[in-house]
Amino acid sequence: MTISYLKISGVRNLRAPEFSPSSRINIISGKNGSGKTSILESIHFLSTTRSFRTHEIRHLLTQGEESALVFSKVLEPSSNHPLPLGVEKRLSGETKVRFDGRTLDSAELASLLPIQVLYSGTFELLDGSPAVRRQFVDWGGFHADPYFISIWRAFRRALKQRNSLLKYGKIDRLQMQVWDQEFISYGELLTQHRRAYLEKADA
Ligand SMILES: Nc1ncnc2c1ncn2[C@@H]1O[C@H](COP(=O)(O)OP(=O)(O)OP(=O)(O)O)[C@@H](O)[C@H]1O
Ligand SMILES: [Mg+2]
Repeated sequence: MTISYLKISGVRNLRAPEFSPSSRINIISGKNGSGKTSILESIHFLSTTRSFRTHEIRHLLTQGEESALVFSKVLEPSSNHPLPLGVEKRLSGETKVRFDGRTLDSAELASLLPIQVLYSGTFELLDGSPAVRRQFVDWGGFHADPYFISIWRAFRRALKQRNSLLKYGKIDRLQMQVWDQEFISYGELLTQHRRAYLEKADA
């Protein structure tokens, strides 16, 4: 999908800019502190409901505002009929995603508007922990492979359950065997899908 119209309200110092980006390359220019990165941050927010600069919503919201709203019109590759997509987040953390008259969850939203951010933190991919690199590969796998998300979720669930069992003083062997089995089988499946995605991406 491409963004054919964008209106940003309640984000940092931006004063509700409204514009129609090009479907190809857009160049944003302006003085230091004028809000260029905040526009990119708003697009990231539209695609993920999060900022790439902060984990704290109050930093993203314009000081004194109760909510941030990024409203857009998005176009399917072969369509010329733009559909409305809006993401709103309140200071309390409450988040609303609406697309063409219905509410979406974050996985649906992410597959609608896949984005890739390159910024100073991108170097973490090279010098950060392996978790950062896994997350990067998983992001690609999620978009390229329709089975990825369910395998990933099942693996995460087994990992969490197994870890919480391990934290108990007295381990229930039978339960542990069940989660060991889940952990191994979903772990192997996830590895296969990660590998298949990387081999395809490399081709
Ligand atoms: N929560 C907030 N509420 C209001 N203003 C904010 C908030 N957070 C940051 N600002 C201001 O918004 C501006 C954000 O600018 P931003 O980083 O987007 O600018 P930029 O054009 O990318 O600048 P540079 O050229 O330095 O990269 C800064 O002037 C900052 O002081
Ligand atoms: Mg900047």
